[in-house]
Amino acid sequence: MQKIIILDFGSQTTQLIGRRVRELNTFCEILPYNKFPKDDPDVIGVILSGSPLSVNQADAFRLDFADLRGRYPILGICYGAQLMADTFGGKVESSDSREYGRAQLQTIDADDALFKGIAPDAQVWMSHGDTITHLPQGFEVVASTPTVKHAAYRAADGEPLWGVQFHPEVFHTLCGRLLLHNFVVDICGSQQDWSPAQFVESTIAELRQQIGTDRVILGLSGGVDSSVAAVLLHRAIGDQLTCIFVDHGLLRKDEYTEVMGLYANLGLNVIGVDASQKFYAELSGVTDPERKRKIIGKGFIDVFEAEARKITDARWLAQGTIYPDRIESMNITGKVIKSHHNVGGLPEKMNLKICEPLRWLFKDEVRRVGKQLGIPQLLIGRHPFPGPGLAVRILGDITPEKVRVLQEADDIFISGLRQWPTEDGDVLYNKVWQAGVILLPVQSVGVMGDERTYEQAVALRAVTSTDAMTADWAHLPYDFLAKVSNDIINHVRGVNRVCYDISSKPPATIEWE
Ligand code: XMP
Repeated sequence: MQKIIILDFGSQTTQLIGRRVRELNTFCEILPYNKFPKDDPDVIGVILSGSPLSVNQADAFRLDFADLRGRYPILGICYGAQLMADTFGGKVESSDSREYGRAQLQTIDADDALFKGIAPDAQVWMSHGDTITHLPQGFEVVASTPTVKHAAYRAADGEPLWGVQFHPEVFHTLCGRLLLHNFVVDICGSQQDWSPAQFVESTIAELRQQIGTDRVILGLSGGVDSSVAAVLLHRAIGDQLTCIFVDHGLLRKDEYTEVMGLYANLGLNVIGVDASQKFYAELSGVTDPERKRKIIGKGFIDVFEAEARKITDARWLAQGTIYPDRIESMNITGKVIKSHHNVGGLPEKMNLKICEPLRWLFKDEVRRVGKQLGIPQLLIGRHPFPGPGLAVRILGDITPEKVRVLQEADDIFISGLRQWPTEDGDVLYNKVWQAGVILLPVQSVGVMGDERTYEQAVALRAVTSTDAMTADWAHLPYDFLAKVSNDIINHVRGVNRVCYDISSKPPATIEWE
């Protein structure tokens, strides 16, 4: 399958370049800058990412262009563009005025293949402290802004090589999609055949080949990734797959039963384990968020392992790990800095091999694949939910009674979001990335009827986001918030005050703990 290689020099937007290429139905791999796959016949082009470094630093990341030049079309972005200019004999210097934010192109060469169809005054997004002051011999300017002369350049002799000092991958570069389309499709010749249907078909064939007649176990969480991985595997190997769903007692109201029902409808073989009492006992009196997480993580592994050991002939552990999990777990030198094994240590202990069928997909692609597999929207459209569940939304110690109160309040908020219509015929739930209620360790005075009350406060949290790395609080309609507040106070015993969290991430986080 054709692929674009994105060499990562450590920029925060490298992943975005990958997403944009995938949006062009083109497969791509993001690799550390020094890991170019020299012998891969499927490579059709190379993109060099930005970097927090300066090419003038002694320890700047360098590249051996002998592997690339003359073999593939190359697009250097920001640091990538500066690195090429510097390597080929140009000059990069620290710029007097640092170039950040919006800028308008002023002149462009309208005949240039990379800029085909792009308005001469298109808006771009700059973010660099260095600037290219002299282009190497044999290179020429393609676009400038009022302050950046070499905003884009190319090789003058027709070699397919470009450098842009702005970021075409970010939303604010309005012409960015077209520019990347020009590069990936027109210049590199992508046939744009990377699609959910194609992915499902080829992955099923690969899984059959990889697994043969072995047995596989998979931990389901009720979330999108593990559910899609399970259905994909089930398509490939049928009943050789056994799934395990652990209820730690910190799920949403009725979630365990509902999700088990959805899995049964999908034909999955799922062992459900209600371990809530174990978790409540172990969490009793614990207030520190990190200790809560550790207790739940270890408890989960214990329960999962006990069940998994009953499947004595299992050879594989399947996981719903997705691409961003793996990219985050590597730094640009390729060293693993954080392991994403949900059931840490288990594969080694039980001598299981790891199978990660979604390892190349971004979150939105997982949803598209899920849709392709016929998984109901109720499952694939679900908001993300933290592994430790409501434990990180009950500030302070956890008791079954607090879990009940929070489940009731959360249910009112979430079902409210699912029902509240929006102008475009959708519902509010689908307009937010994630929502939930937090039970605060605070009591306040209220009045209900003629009675003075002294009860708990809850906070509603709803955010918009594309990847949970940054998030904004969702601007939910006042009428909706008023109704939810009313419903919670009237129906959830023990709560007399509702607040709305209007903090963005950063500096706050999505969860409170
Ligand atoms: P924060 O709170 O860091 O969360 O802004 C970002 C995203 O990660 C989820 N989250 C977790 N998921 N285990 C998980 O599996 C955890 O311990 C955990 N903490 C946060 C959070 O819900 C949000 O989607």
